[in-house]
This record gives sequence, C-alpha cells and structure tokens, in this order.
Amino acid sequence: MEISPSIMVIFGASGDLTQRMLIPSLYKLHLRGLLPKEFSILGFARTEMNSDEFRDFLKKAIQGNKDFKDLDEAKWKDFADKLNYLAADFDNPESYHELRRTIRELDAKTKACDNLLIYFAIPPTAYKKAVDNLGIAGLNVPCGPDSWTRIIVEKPFGNDLESAKDLNAHLAKYFTEYQIYRIDHYQGKETVQNILVTRFSNGIFEPLWNRNYIHHVEITAAESIGIENRGGYYDQTGALRDMVQNHLMQLMCLVAMEPPSSFRSNFIRNESMKVLQSLKPMKEADVPKCVIRGQYTESIVKGEQLKGYRQEKDVKPRSKTETFIAMKAYIDNWRWEGVPFYLRTGKRLPTRVSEIVIRFKPTPHKLFTLGENIAQTSNQLILRIQPDEGILLKFGMKKPGEGFELENVGMDFHYTDLKFESIPTAYERLLLDCMIGDSTLFVRQDAVEACWEFVQPVINAFENNKKIPVHGYPAGSWGPKNADDLIVEKDMKWRYPCKNLTNDDTYCEL
Ligand code: BG6
Repeated sequence: MEISPSIMVIFGASGDLTQRMLIPSLYKLHLRGLLPKEFSILGFARTEMNSDEFRDFLKKAIQGNKDFKDLDEAKWKDFADKLNYLAADFDNPESYHELRRTIRELDAKTKACDNLLIYFAIPPTAYKKAVDNLGIAGLNVPCGPDSWTRIIVEKPFGNDLESAKDLNAHLAKYFTEYQIYRIDHYQGKETVQNILVTRFSNGIFEPLWNRNYIHHVEITAAESIGIENRGGYYDQTGALRDMVQNHLMQLMCLVAMEPPSSFRSNFIRNESMKVLQSLKPMKEADVPKCVIRGQYTESIVKGEQLKGYRQEKDVKPRSKTETFIAMKAYIDNWRWEGVPFYLRTGKRLPTRVSEIVIRFKPTPHKLFTLGENIAQTSNQLILRIQPDEGILLKFGMKKPGEGFELENVGMDFHYTDLKFESIPTAYERLLLDCMIGDSTLFVRQDAVEACWEFVQPVINAFENNKKIPVHGYPAGSWGPKNADDLIVEKDMKWRYPCKNLTNDDTYCEL
C-alpha cells in the first residue's frame, strides 16, 4: 500500500530507544523500499544539536549495530537526507509552536499537507505535559481533510490502574482513540503473530485447545541480562509492571482468545478484551499463594562475577523491587474454566528465551508407562517466541527393541528452515502498521486498563504486606525454587528451556 507523504516526529530522539530500535527499524524499512516515497524524520529532544550533528549521531548508532555490518554509504545518505532535528524544551509551549513551524517547512518541501506521526520515546513522566502542549499548538489535528495525525505511545503506559486511566483521559482530551497507538513491541514479533495463525489456520490444534484437553499453559519470558543502565527506571517498576502487565498478558490473550469472525483490528481486539474481562480477579489476600517474587543476588557465572540487583547503579541498597515474578492466573469462561495459566519472567536467568508451553492432559488410561508421573506423560506444544524461533511438539514413542519401553521425543519446526533472508523486527512491523493505519497489534484503551486492573491487587499486596518474601536467587539461575510450587500438580514443574528450542532442563548448553 502506497503511503502519502508523511513526517515522523520522534520525541526523545537523542535517547536510547531511538538509537537502538527506531532508527535501525526505519532504516531497514527504507532499505526494503517500504517507507513512503516522501518521508521526513524530525528528531525532537532536549540535547542541543543541529540536523547535521543528528545525522552523524545516528550514523554512529547504525555503524555500531550488528545488523548493519557494512554500511552502504550511498543508501545511508539517501536515508540521512530524510533526517532533521529540532532541540526541544518539552515543558515549554513555545517549543511546540517552533515544532509546528518546522513541520510546515517540511510540508512545503513536498508541496503537500503531510501526514504526521508523533512518537513518544520520552520518559512517561513527561507524557502529559507533552500531550497538552501538542494540543495547544494544534498539532493533534491533521493538516488537511485527506491527511492523518497519529501518536505512538511507548510503554510503560501508566504505573498503576489510576495513572493509566489518568493518562488515557489526558490523551483523549486532544486525540481520538483512532489516533492513539499504544505500542507493545511483543505484538510486533513475527512469532507472536504466528500464535493466531497456528491456532486459527490449522484444523488440528483448535479442537484440542480447551479445558478438556489442556492441563495448563506456561508463558515464560526469561532474560539473561540484568537491568543494565536502567536502575533508576527499573527500581520504580519491577518485573510485574515492566513485563507482566503488558507483554505477558498480551501473549495470554492471544493463546486464550476465541476465534474472531474476521481479521479486522477491532474484531481481534474485542476478543482480547473478552479474555481480560474473564480473568478471575486476584484478591490481595491471595497474592502470597498465587505469586512468587524474587531478586537476583551476586554470583559467578562462567567465571564472570555478576552483581546482585541491589549493587546495581541507581538501585536502593535495600530495594524490594522484584527482578523475577511467577504467577498463576485463571480465565473464568467455558473454554478455560479451571485451567491454570502460569506467567513467569525475570532478569539474570540462565538464558534469554520467550515461549509458550501448552501442556496437554495425559491419556485417561495408561497402557504404557512413560514415566512415574503426569509431568512425564503429558504432550507439550511449545510455541517459541525467541530465540531459535519455531514450534515443538513433544510426544511419547516406543523405544526400538524388545518390550514396550517409551521415550519422549519431539517434532520441531524452526524459522531458520524457511527461505527468508531475515525476519522483520517488531518495530519495523509496528511502525509500518501505524503508517498504514492498522491498529490490530496495538493496545486499546480498555485493554491497557484491564491489564492494570488485573495486576493492581498484586501491586497493592507488594506494597502493603511486608511479609510477602522477596526471594533471593543467584544471578544466572532460574529464579526462586519455590516458583515450582505454584504449579498445581504435584511432581510437575515449569519447563526450563534452553537457548535452542528442542532441549530443556538438564540437557541445556547455555
Ligand atoms: C521491554 C522491557 O519492554 O522488554 C525490558 O522494558 C525488557 O526490561 C524488554 O528487557 C524485553 O524485550 P525482548 O524483545 O528483548 O524480549
């Protein structure tokens, strides 16, 4: 689809997100010929620099990016010509009038009334003032009857239910819901979109996808990195707000939703919303039974000394912020009644892996013994989000030879088997979707609030109940051991995945 002339204004253009994600993705879209023919990027940030310095600054970022080993100077120049910069004072309305003048100058270049895409890559504390100032400068209103103005808002979207509602109300003063794109980059991942395709385009999975056949679902997003230089942000946030309220809950919606009647944005988002509305509310008093939190402590991994969380820069020395969380949720509807959904995420775990494990119930009558307990006898379907993207089905087979001894084996598909050059990044997909006006993979106002509503009792319990332990776990381990106790079935524990899809547990080469 051809996109008419557009201008993208990046708030916070001198920051980390712009260098690591936005510009590399925009540059890739440029190389793939997918950006609008007439396209300008206007960096808007506090740092004083001019457009040439901005171009140099971003060129260095691209040269340091492993995806662009040999920078093609001519292609880069073509892209760099689209880059402009304006120093900003986000709190000062005058800055926005200047922004408006600069946008009109860019419009003049294309002799058109350009579409305007505003990207908030600024600290969330600056959102409200920036929204007000955009409104005062009239930058919320499209330039002409045939053009659009859209705003992408980065997470975290609020810090709790109240602040998320407040931010939504604030945005709604100046923008309609159709203009607002709340980004959750997990939804832009190719493998995440494939969850819907796996479920709804294959006749073999959907008939089994319910409480009659599924024992439980595990959703894991593990990271081997610590909090890096984000101590100031992370210590106020923690794993629940940083990963569960958004990424993990969105994954849960995709696994649990009913088939939409059509693949249209609001049809899909309505089905997600129904899942969130069916979540069994957690009582604050039940949090100690349903949630395990942890914090990494110092340790030595492969000869490297790793700091504990409390020793990290900008972290309070007695911080109780969780760097690991595991929790159990139930969806009270016909399809999922009684099926636990386990969500788990953490920093400084042994490896970086995100995946969904569908654990099926065992056969009703056991002709053959595969193992002592249900953990060994249940089939598993693993939807691997990253890395070694793919799908694995685990089942029992007869070991060749005398008798009927059984063994667990796997059938696996890996994205690397496909003849594609590379999988587009989440930001490539989402930026393009926003430009073509497809909001399917963005989070709607009611959904973001419903996610906060679900986690709010956990936030409250962490704040109010000092007796809920913050379990220490050595950096590089799989988190607190008692996360296994959440799993209702005796003898059953989480899958402890490896970097490669097919192996788990003790067979890992981390
Ligand atoms: C971000 C979190 O939203 O997701 C980070 O703020 C986290 O803390 C990141 O590291 C994980 O994303 P990915 O794509 O690397 O799994």
